Amino acid sequence: MTQDELKQAVARAAFDYVESKLEDNMIIGVGTGSTANFFIEELGKISDRLEGTVASSEETARRLKLHNIPVYDLNSAGRIGIYVDGADESNAHLQLIKGGGAALTREKILAAASKEFVCIADASKMVGVLGEFPLPIEIVPMARSYVGREIVKLGGDPVYREGCVTDNGNQILDIYNLEILDPRKLEQDLNQITGVVTNGIFAVRGADILMLGTARGVEIRRAASFA
Ligand code: 5RP
Repeated sequence: MTQDELKQAVARAAFDYVESKLEDNMIIGVGTGSTANFFIEELGKISDRLEGTVASSEETARRLKLHNIPVYDLNSAGRIGIYVDGADESNAHLQLIKGGGAALTREKILAAASKEFVCIADASKMVGVLGEFPLPIEIVPMARSYVGREIVKLGGDPVYREGCVTDNGNQILDIYNLEILDPRKLEQDLNQITGVVTNGIFAVRGADILMLGTARGVEIRRAASFA
């Protein structure tokens, strides 16, 4: 199976899961990226039964609207029932790296505001230790050099993502060569650097369920804290 076929398979599995749990007035959070795009296509099948969605990026909002799916601002939507999104990496504890598509801040807000976070990914995203994928951090533009120097002190090699402006008007640094042995601590430490909006480690609020597309089928893993 190709990587896209694996992504399609997990998107379908997530759709089945969401459909089975759909309740009146339930708002669905929708992530950003190619795997999330496959999920949006599935969601389009039940656009008439959906109360609405909250999108983690302008691009996702645009795609949802193309499928006639209502998109709300999070402030008027309240708590999200289920949030479905992809990832760049996951470890066995369902702690993630996200932000390859530069939507990490809104993604982290949706994860925090959701009752359930379902991560969908092809098997190549599963790692032993997070950090092989360069860790994205969103920064306020004027702080870029300062934040870069602070990251070097933490042992990382920051690279400015040229030409990338986030939906929030900020910039992205991708941090190479980090071996993230304590994801919760590094997530919190990075957020303490003045000028960092957020970073792409999702460990304080990781995924509750991981649907992993493998050649043998979709594997479902649950976080220890999630019954
Ligand atoms: C966007 C993200 C994506 O979820 C992540 O980059 C995975 O993307 P894809 O599904 O295209 O592999 O975090 O900011």
